[in-house]
Amino acid sequence: MKGILLAGGSGTRMYPSTLATSKQLLSVYDKPMIYHPLSVLMLAGIRDILVISTPTSIPSLQSLLGDGSRLGLTITYAEQQEPRGIAEALIIGADHIGNDPVALILGDNVFHGAGFPRLLREARNDLNGCTLFGYPVSDPERYGIGETDAEGNLVSLEEKPLRPRSNDAVTGLYFYDPDAVEIARDLTPSARGELEITDVNLAYLKQGRARLIRLGRGFTWLDAGTHDSLLAASQYVHVIETRQGVRVACVEEIALRMGYIDAEHCHRLGARMRNSSYGQYLMQLAQLAA
Ligand code: DAU
Repeated sequence: MKGILLAGGSGTRMYPSTLATSKQLLSVYDKPMIYHPLSVLMLAGIRDILVISTPTSIPSLQSLLGDGSRLGLTITYAEQQEPRGIAEALIIGADHIGNDPVALILGDNVFHGAGFPRLLREARNDLNGCTLFGYPVSDPERYGIGETDAEGNLVSLEEKPLRPRSNDAVTGLYFYDPDAVEIARDLTPSARGELEITDVNLAYLKQGRARLIRLGRGFTWLDAGTHDSLLAASQYVHVIETRQGVRVACVEEIALRMGYIDAEHCHRLGARMRNSSYGQYLMQLAQLAA
């Protein structure tokens, strides 16, 4: 399975903080926001990842993540000239996807919860068409909202409905078979002028090949795309990390645990940042793993 991490958009809701940098590079407590979606792809066992962003943001994303080899990954980059919609990522990423299934994730989404790696692996193995991940929210009119039958098949889906039929928001993580590229190419822009990811999902729904896996109330999903939600995400990560003494979305730790890098390499990555508690954490991990 290939990965696409969509980290574009103009970030206007976060001005002036995003006037000179990309939203996905802002810090969620102790690490760049983009580590969160990257860690989800890594936990799903995906190693070949295309990062899509604006022409101005790509150089800084590149200086953070490089070609991915530091983490045992292959990371490449592609430009989205204008924010023409999330579904455009499937068109921009067509060559990268080829004939493989793909996981698309939004750069400002934070997922955290017990059993997530297993859930991701199962969703990947069971993929037939498209698999979405639902999460209960108190403000469903802000999201894509899905409804399922008893088997978890998607039976209705609406983007930002005025009268929501459920409170299950469709999160910014989408698993697709390779047909998604052609489906995206056939779309026409919505009233807000975007190629809507919800329209891709509706095409699968019409074919009876769309599932929605509910992430339960014991799970955390946040999007960190506004000042308030970024603060909430930072506070969440701070509470978990200081209470448990482990890091959330530490991409080097995931690379070590997945066997993509060895202890010595992890130590070197930590030593580069030895003045930060993050760097010291990596060196401790390496010591324990050696
Ligand atoms: O967060 C989940 C929601 O994401 C889903 O429930 C909705 O169904 C889906 O449409 C989307 O909702 P929004 O319309 O609120 O997404 P937004 O325009 O905020 O874009 C989400 C992220 O994707 C944002 O960080 C910027 C990035 N993006 C967005 C567009 C439209 C791009 O990189 N390029 C784009 O063209």
